Amino acid sequence: MVEMIYAGKAKQMWSTEDPEILRVVYLDQATALNGKKKDQIKGKGQINNEISSLIFTYLNQQKIPTHFIKRLSTTEELVKKVEIIPLEMVTRNLSAGHFASRYGVKEGIRFIQPVEETYYKSDELDDPFINESQIAALNLVSSKDLLTMWQISRRVNELLSELFLQINLQLVDYKLEFGRLSDGTVILADEFSPDNCRLWDLQTNRHMDKDVYRRDLGELTPVYEEVLHRLQTVLNKEEQ
Ligand code: TMP
Repeated sequence: MVEMIYAGKAKQMWSTEDPEILRVVYLDQATALNGKKKDQIKGKGQINNEISSLIFTYLNQQKIPTHFIKRLSTTEELVKKVEIIPLEMVTRNLSAGHFASRYGVKEGIRFIQPVEETYYKSDELDDPFINESQIAALNLVSSKDLLTMWQISRRVNELLSELFLQINLQLVDYKLEFGRLSDGTVILADEFSPDNCRLWDLQTNRHMDKDVYRRDLGELTPVYEEVLHRLQTVLNKEEQ
């Protein structure tokens, strides 16, 4: 029986006839402050599905192991079923957001080496910061799998920083999530869209990501559409 197996803030996951494959539905919902700010934004689900599908197709072509199979419709995609590892893997190339506020520095400082942070995925606990020994103590993932996750994250950073530079965007920071296939293999999961990364226009430093919504800087959909249009100029739509 086909049923909804997960309802998130911006996506739903549905089972399919194939037990190893899930259908993702992108919703027209934006949230910030861990769900405390919430709005319906018409067209957002479609744009994020298009952006994430383009990026995951590109990552698959670059031999990054991901859950993405294909885009199914304007708001749906097919993905490999994984058990999500409850960690948010954040990489920062420039200071922004919580890094800037937590350490009292201005935004826009480029780091000599990317900053890597892990957060424990838990809405009730507000996704607290977690370090490697705490991850081991809670038995969330083996140190070998954690290393694999960081190795994939670093390669994603190289590939996407270069890709976004081609379209005049700086990849400031981003969050990745990983999951395990039934045979235990760790692969990249979730999505990659302006909801879970920061993108600044190279010339103007304009925010072209969810900070537009978080900080009430204007309308979100035209900004996300602009990111999509720029991506389409470098990633071949036919290859989806
Ligand atoms: P932060 O500056 O708020 O810690 O966010 C760093 C990056 O991670 C930013 O690109 C947004 C992304 N992120 C998420 O996608 N989900 C989250 O729950 C958090 C905390 C950050």
